[in-house]
Amino acid sequence: MTTKTVIINDVGPRDGLQNQPKVLTLEQRLQLIKALRTASIPAIEVGAFVSPKAVPAMAGTGELVTQLPSGPCAYSALIPNQKGYELGKESNIPIMSLVLAASNTMNEKNIRQSTKEGFMTCAKVLQQAKSDGTHVQVYVATAWACPFEGAITEDSVISLTDRLMTAGAKHIVVADTIGAAHPEQSYLLMSRLVNEFGANQLSCHFHDTRAMGLANVYAALQAGIRQFDASIGGLGGCPFAPGASGNVATEDVVMMLEQMGYETGIDMPSLLNASDLAIELTGTARGGKAKAWLEKYYAQSALAG
Ligand code: COA
Ligand code: ZN
Repeated sequence: MTTKTVIINDVGPRDGLQNQPKVLTLEQRLQLIKALRTASIPAIEVGAFVSPKAVPAMAGTGELVTQLPSGPCAYSALIPNQKGYELGKESNIPIMSLVLAASNTMNEKNIRQSTKEGFMTCAKVLQQAKSDGTHVQVYVATAWACPFEGAITEDSVISLTDRLMTAGAKHIVVADTIGAAHPEQSYLLMSRLVNEFGANQLSCHFHDTRAMGLANVYAALQAGIRQFDASIGGLGGCPFAPGASGNVATEDVVMMLEQMGYETGIDMPSLLNASDLAIELTGTARGGKAKAWLEKYYAQSALAG
């Protein structure tokens, strides 16, 4: 991987679909994943092993995993607890993502555990993963702001990341769950984390609630981050975090990165088809902010041969 390579993990099939009024069928969820694979997305969060009562849209993730297209893609799924780990392991999903918020109230709402209990769950699962030889990473949610507790300090995120890594986490995804961070804050926190832990072990996950998603990606990029979550068509949100809107759109992030000379390996015309499909399936996705321009640009390029 050169310093000009950026890895995009599309979280549309999980973060995107979990918050939709319309629950898609397994076939539709798979259709979206296949469209993303056609665009050569290198990593996809395909679903979640969570309670189907809590998040009906993610029911059947185990079955979905058995039908994923083969080929080089880092497939992952979210797990909130030990039971999620067992289900994920059974399904043979290559990567499982625990989630632990930096704020106590968010953990109580999301995983029904305090931060202390949630940390113990993570430590147990990470220990288990080590002996099972499975790949488990951790999302540090509400890393800049919590919808219930407000601002989160950099020190608390650094200390939580440190403890999770000591407990065995190989990779940490730093998430702005409600899209409240501004670029200066993103740069400052990510610079400190990169200095402490190295960029390879870190990703960023930005929501675009205040239209600062792309600026936050740029800020984290300046801090050295080379792995980002994004969501096709800007789908996204968390049912347990009031005010969380869609993630920064994959098509916008890929456009910005490629224009700056970074390589994502993603095929933009196919990505735009996947964005169309996300809009068609959900009826709510808006598409990236640059989508109209991108469509025009690629239509003209095709005409020019
Ligand atoms: N997958 C599937 N079912 C699960 C589960 C999992 N990972 N963990 C618990 N359950 C089931 C239990 O079997 C039980 O089922 P029952 O009512 O049929 O007996 C029920 O959920 C309650 O179990 P309990 O251990 O008491 O869990 P809880 O009520 O404390 O709920 C969560 C905890 C985390 C399972 C639930 O709140 C959840 O799935 N939340 C979703 C989190 C999420 O996806 N957030 C968005 C992304 S960040
Ligand atoms: Zn999210």
